[in-house]
Amino acid sequence: MTTRILTGITTTGTPHLGNYAGAIRPAIEASRQPGMDSYYFLADYHALIKCDDPQRIQRSRLEIAATWLAGGLDVERATFYRQSDIPEIPELTWLLTCVAAKGLLNRAHAYKASVDRNVETGEDPDAGVSMGLYSYPILMAADILMFNAHKVPVGRDQIQHVEMARDIGQRFNHLFGQGQELFVLPEAVIEESVATLPGLDGRKMSKSYDNTIPLFGSAKQLKDAIARIVTDSRAPGEPKDPDNSHLFTLYSAFATPAQTEAFRGHLLGGLGWGEAKQQLFTLLDGLLAEPRERYQQLIARPADLEDILLAGAAKARRVATPFLEQLREAVGLRSFRTQVAATGTTPKKAGKAARFVSFREDDGSFRFRLLSAEGEQLLLSQPFADGKAAGAASKRLQQVEPELRVEADSFTVWLDGECVASSPAHADDAARDAAIDAVKQALRPAAD
Ligand code: TRP
Repeated sequence: MTTRILTGITTTGTPHLGNYAGAIRPAIEASRQPGMDSYYFLADYHALIKCDDPQRIQRSRLEIAATWLAGGLDVERATFYRQSDIPEIPELTWLLTCVAAKGLLNRAHAYKASVDRNVETGEDPDAGVSMGLYSYPILMAADILMFNAHKVPVGRDQIQHVEMARDIGQRFNHLFGQGQELFVLPEAVIEESVATLPGLDGRKMSKSYDNTIPLFGSAKQLKDAIARIVTDSRAPGEPKDPDNSHLFTLYSAFATPAQTEAFRGHLLGGLGWGEAKQQLFTLLDGLLAEPRERYQQLIARPADLEDILLAGAAKARRVATPFLEQLREAVGLRSFRTQVAATGTTPKKAGKAARFVSFREDDGSFRFRLLSAEGEQLLLSQPFADGKAAGAASKRLQQVEPELRVEADSFTVWLDGECVASSPAHADDAARDAAIDAVKQALRPAAD
C-alpha cells in the first residue's frame, strides 16, 4: 500500500539552514522512498494570515519553490504545488468550517497565545485577532484531508493542528460517511534527530531570534555567519566539550558518522575554535555549493518556476476535483439530475436518491460506485486513468441507456461496446433481477 505524506511551508520568509535540515531535506528524502506518494506545497493562503506585505509574500513563494527544487525534489514523483492554485482547498475549508466545533478552535495555541498577550496588557482579548488566525487550523485541515494524507511531517508547534485535522475529519466522516471513511485520519510525524537545529547562539535556529545561517547565500555570507557562532572561551590546545557545543551539533547534523567521530576527537584533543569553524565552513560549503548554483539558476528564471508549479497544481487537482465532487455529494450539494431521476420513480423515498461516488485507488486510478438510496453498492466501475474520465463515464450512464448483460449471479454494464461497470455477486437470480431494476431506475435519464 502507498503511504501519502503531505506537508506545507508557509511562505513568509527565506529558508535558512535550519529549515533545510529540519524540514526540507528529510521531506525530499522521504519522497524518494518506494511506496511513498508525497504532496509538498507552498502554504501561501496561510502566509496571508501572518503577513500583509505583498512583495514579501511573492518573494518568499519564489525562494521557497526554488529551494525545494534546488534541494533535489523530483516533481515527476512528488506533487509540488501552491495552495492558492487549488480552488478546491478553500471550498473544502468551508465544508469543514461547518462541522468544526468553535470550542475546538478556541483551544488552538496560536489563537490562545494572542488572547493571553492581550489580556496581560489589558487590551480587548480579541484585539488584532483576524478570523484568518482563528480559522487557521481549519484551512490546514483542508490542506491535509483534501489529499487523504496518512503522514504529516511538522514541527512540534504544529502537532496540535494535525490533531485538529483528525478531529474535524473524524466528525465529517461520522456525519456524512454513511459508515464509510470519506477522509483518512492523518498522523503528525516529528523528525526527532534534526527538529532542533541550534542557531548561532545555541537557541533553536529561527528567524525570530536572528541567529540563522543562510542556506543559499554566497560562500562569504556563509563564512561570516559561521564566524558569529558563539563558543566558550577555551583557548586552542585546551580540550573542548563536544556535547556542550552547538557548533559540534551543527557539524554533526550534516556530517557522516565517521566525519562526526573525527571532529569529536579533534575537539577533545584541543582543536581551536577558529579552526573548528573553518572545518564547519568547509563541510557546509562543500555540501551546499552545488544546490546553491542550481538555486541561483532557478531564481533567475521565474517563468520556468511558474510552469513547474502550474503543472504541479494540475496534477494535484486531478485528485482534488473528483474528491471534492464526492464530498459535495455527501453533504447534499448534488445535481438535480440524479435526484429527479430517482425521486420520479420512487415517490415514497422523495429526497433520497441513488448516487454516484468516485474515489481514487492506491495505484492512482479512479473508479466510481453507484450506491442505492440506502447506501448499498449497485455498481462498481472499471478503473479509469483519471477523475475526468471516470466522471464522464458516470455522466454518460445517466444520459444514454446502457446495455446490461447478465453473468450468472451478477451483471455488467456496457457503453459503446465497452464494459464500464459491474455489479456485486447476488445471492440468487431474484436478488440479481431486483438489483438490475434498481440500476435501471437509478440510471433513467432525467425527464427534462
Ligand atoms: N502551518 C504550517 C506551518 O506554519 C504550514 C502548513 C499549512 C502545513 N498547511 C499545512 C503543514 C498542512 C502541514 C500540513 O508550519
